[in-house]
Amino acid sequence: MTIPRLHDPDRRDFGSDNFAGVHPDVLAALATANLGHQPSYGADVYTERLRDVVRREFGPDASVYPVFNGTGANIIALQAMAQRWEAIVCAESAHLHTDECAAPEHHGFKLITVPSPHGLVSPDALPAIAADRANRHHAQAGVLSLSQSTELGTCYSPDELRALTDAAHRSGFRVHVDGARIANAAARLGVSLRELTTDAGVDVLSFGATKNGGMFGDCVIVLDPTAVAGLPYLKKASTQLPSKTRFISAQLLALIEDGLWLRNAAHANAMADRLHAGLSALPGVTITHPVQANVVFAVLPDGVADRLRRHWSFSTWNAATGEVRLMTSFDTTAEDVDALVRAASHEGVPA
Ligand SMILES: Cc1ncc(COP(=O)(O)O)c(C=O)c1O
Repeated sequence: MTIPRLHDPDRRDFGSDNFAGVHPDVLAALATANLGHQPSYGADVYTERLRDVVRREFGPDASVYPVFNGTGANIIALQAMAQRWEAIVCAESAHLHTDECAAPEHHGFKLITVPSPHGLVSPDALPAIAADRANRHHAQAGVLSLSQSTELGTCYSPDELRALTDAAHRSGFRVHVDGARIANAAARLGVSLRELTTDAGVDVLSFGATKNGGMFGDCVIVLDPTAVAGLPYLKKASTQLPSKTRFISAQLLALIEDGLWLRNAAHANAMADRLHAGLSALPGVTITHPVQANVVFAVLPDGVADRLRRHWSFSTWNAATGEVRLMTSFDTTAEDVDALVRAASHEGVPA
């Protein structure tokens, strides 16, 4: 039995990159992996191939752990990296802090947030936090978690990352990167995944696939094996060991193996650039953060956001200032962007 289609397949919004469907190559990979039986819990041939591909992309010491989602990747990574008495240092805008329903706290971690203009953490924030370790009454900062690209659509260059990882390691922190959108950062910066992680001193990465054309499933990639302990067991204990792991691995293979991750992210970024150019040319529009990934933050003239909302959904980021967040994805088209910009410019809202 086929189900009836309940939605308009031509509708594309700006609400989030995970409003988008699945890239056809990823769907095809799922179908390829589907027939016949394969061992469960990651002992299948697709996960085995994924291990090879991840070593090729990230270096010979890299190992990969497929999980159901981005929050799961972060939580597994942090549990494997931090001791029970340690705290996690992150940006005040970090998804970890603002949008994971206190999952880190549920797992016993105190978060120490630092100011993060445009979503970015500065290495200058670290020494004072490290110095506080002398106080045995305080949670001991053990891991620095950075988002790349950040929740505000900015990126750390490889040099900026190296400065952060050097400062963190000097202060005794391990470094985790929440890479739910690392593809967008790499595409923007024109560097490989390895240059942005292993070569920049990152210890553990949460690698995002869902927001970049996947159906479901992300993974933890360990770059420094000495930075973690117990990851396979933590996956199971934290409900992040998919019995049919082959279907997550197949998606990751489809994205990573021949560079689909880069093509998808570069396209989403280009659509954000187009949107940025269109909106910033309109009178009364303020772009509130640099556009370096697949998202535009803007304050629009009075009434414009309400008018646009009649046709597209997108997030109100700050109700007090009227700031909105408009996200693009691998399947956003130039026509989608131009229609929204036209509507914002009072030239009319599409029927
Ligand atoms: C930066 C960042 N990290 C992690 C996540 C968590 O991903 P998931 O919703 O798959 O748990 C998100 C989701 O929006 C995100 O934006």
